Amino acid sequence: MKDKLGVAVIGTGFWGRNHARVYRELAETELLAICDVDAERAKSVAKQFGVKPYTNAARMLRNEDIEAVSVCTWSTSLAKEAIRAAEAGKHVLVEKPMAADVKQAEKLVETVERKGVYLTVGFLMRFIPGLRHIKKAIETKEIGELVCATAKRVSQWPERIGDVGVVKDTAIHDIDVILYLFNEDPVAVYAKTGAMRYKRFEDYAQMMLTFEGGKSAFIESNWLTPYKTRVLTATGSEAIMTLDYITQELTVENAKETMRPRYPMQEPLKLELQHFANCITKKEKPLITGLDGLKALKIAQAALKSSATGKIVKLK
Ligand SMILES: NC(=O)c1ccc[n+]([C@@H]2O[C@H](COP(=O)([O-])OP(=O)(O)OC[C@H]3O[C@@H](n4cnc5c(N)ncnc54)[C@H](O)[C@@H]3O)[C@@H](O)[C@H]2O)c1
Repeated sequence: MKDKLGVAVIGTGFWGRNHARVYRELAETELLAICDVDAERAKSVAKQFGVKPYTNAARMLRNEDIEAVSVCTWSTSLAKEAIRAAEAGKHVLVEKPMAADVKQAEKLVETVERKGVYLTVGFLMRFIPGLRHIKKAIETKEIGELVCATAKRVSQWPERIGDVGVVKDTAIHDIDVILYLFNEDPVAVYAKTGAMRYKRFEDYAQMMLTFEGGKSAFIESNWLTPYKTRVLTATGSEAIMTLDYITQELTVENAKETMRPRYPMQEPLKLELQHFANCITKKEKPLITGLDGLKALKIAQAALKSSATGKIVKLK
């Protein structure tokens, strides 16, 4: 057995380049090739990492030494490329939002199940140590009973104009985190979204998810705020926990004191790709499954429907 997992990256723009860099840095993986439809980009990124460039993923996937791929293309091409890679027998890490719509995501999940390959989705927040602390505090009841959570992820207009709006591009991170923390599916979603600067897609969204027993979560996302804020607050009956995703600082407050448990700052992408590689070699279930991606996308789509119709969308 080889000691390193052979990997490749499809789509090497801003984020795919980071995947390539981390795969090069990790002891567990060997970056063998990259692919980008932009030939100049493919050439320069491949040169930077000393690997073979491709502009055609199908050709690259014929290389049997490539066991796993990261798919980091534009959001509307993610599912197509991930399905192609899975059909070629490769394990797949597909970036969020996994697919442009639920139908494509379902096809991807069906393909990986049929091919027996691993699938995980790039919900990076899950690898931030402070979020793991909050999850554990919910499981051990250190937080008491989880009552509600709020997530705020706002920033100015992104440099690269994407091909999906702020709900599927940005709020989807928080949708996934909320599902992870509550560990159950919401019963309903109500949302208001709008397009202020760029008419093609919504650039602001406020959404509320409700759960059984009166629990709820609120998510605020936009590309309109001139500064960047990415904060999560989980309120329990015994404590409130606030995580700043940017600084990775965690604050725990209860009736008596305020604490700041500290974790060494870690690059979440490194943890994510390491976990992906380890799951494949050790045959373990990934922290984030294709089904998690599918669920998050369903809620994103329900939020957009709620906003378009002005109605609460019941999910159960
Ligand atoms: N998890 C995270 O925190 C995180 C952060 C940033 C971006 N992303 C995701 O990563 C993806 C890429 O985002 P980005 O900011 O790097 O975009 P980008 O526009 O900088 O890069 C996308 C690249 O993919 C290439 N490409 C498009 N379709 C392709 C195809 N079919 N085959 C090969 N190459 C193709 C483009 O030429 C481009 O170089 C998006 O889906 C985005 O949602 C995730």
